[in-house]
Amino acid sequence: MTQNKQILVREIPRGALTESHFEVQNGVLPTPTAGELLVRTLLISLDAANRAWLQGPTYRQAVKAGDVMHGYVVGQVVQSEAPGFAIGDIVAGEGGWAEFVVMPATEASAVPPQRPLSHHVSVFGIAGKTAYHGLLQIGEPRAGETVAVSAAAGSVGSLVGQIARLKGARAVGIAGGPEKCRWLVEELGFAEAVDYKAKGFAKALAAACPDGIDVYFDNTGGAVLEAALFQMNLAGRVVCCGAVSQYDTTDMSSPRGVPGLIVVKRLKLQGFIVMDFAEHDAQAVAELAAWAEAGDLVVVEDVISGLENAPAALIGLLAGENRGKRMIQVAEEE
Ligand SMILES: NC(=O)c1ccc[n+]([C@@H]2O[C@H](COP(=O)([O-])OP(=O)(O)OC[C@H]3O[C@@H](n4cnc5c(N)ncnc54)[C@H](OP(=O)(O)O)[C@@H]3O)[C@@H](O)[C@H]2O)c1
Repeated sequence: MTQNKQILVREIPRGALTESHFEVQNGVLPTPTAGELLVRTLLISLDAANRAWLQGPTYRQAVKAGDVMHGYVVGQVVQSEAPGFAIGDIVAGEGGWAEFVVMPATEASAVPPQRPLSHHVSVFGIAGKTAYHGLLQIGEPRAGETVAVSAAAGSVGSLVGQIARLKGARAVGIAGGPEKCRWLVEELGFAEAVDYKAKGFAKALAAACPDGIDVYFDNTGGAVLEAALFQMNLAGRVVCCGAVSQYDTTDMSSPRGVPGLIVVKRLKLQGFIVMDFAEHDAQAVAELAAWAEAGDLVVVEDVISGLENAPAALIGLLAGENRGKRMIQVAEEE
């Protein structure tokens, strides 16, 4: 019987995530029933949200102890029990940290032919669509405005800053450490980047945004959100995308200035989940692809080989090890 290496959640973390919260197991190859696909995992997306799923129900069900760790997967169909899908098709959808996963066909989407395949996890995947829809549908940046983005060197943030620039705005990144900040300016074309870990961060952010912030794309919440709120211009837009500073801790902190600054500055704060804008996905992918092909958009990917490395890679992502979209390569496309 073919075995199926998989990574289970051994215990739900109460504080910071560690490798001891996971365990590797050789499971049995699952059998798809009517309407399902058996998919060989090629790539697994590692997302800050994976940690939030371990905190409880969010926009989706929580991950529980004993579950195979949930994750977004791109894979190849090895058995189809559903019309419209054949062996060899490349599909994407919710799966798990396992060599083989069963996907309901209704939740699997066919992956278009553009390659490399990894782009369907990064720029054409959830990261690209999140950056595009969040910035353009909610942030609505105008040419000449200042757009600030946190977790700017990460998968969503690195695209947000570049899209802002391509739309004629001035992109200011917020990231951890001088190296990442230098890289954002020199390699990705951000106008400025500010190190939120450095002393005097709030003042440095104000100096980097001499005309104030018109659009703030918030990936972090907490202290970084607070510093940005103080720099917002009248009628500014705050795109609430995520709160990575709050996922891997029991020490949650709310920004000061809420709601006072929102009232006085007449700010719009709007949260969203990428699926809210699914009707505009085709337009997003087309424009992102055109920018990438023209060399105007740098797609940054951080691909780590080996399923067994997923726990350490997720812990590393939460600690800021990654630049761009981190993912796990489990197998090669055949
Ligand atoms: N709303 C949606 O539909 C949607 C969809 C996808 C993702 N998201 C959100 O997008 C955000 C980015 O997620 P991602 O998966 O693309 O991860 P990512 O940005 O590629 O990686 C996470 C980054 O967060 C930074 N970070 C970690 N702890 C931090 C802290 N305490 N304060 C400030 N920055 C911190 C780290 O970089 P540094 O070195 O700079 O600290 C790290 O590289 C998350 O908030 C996620 O929930 C939302």
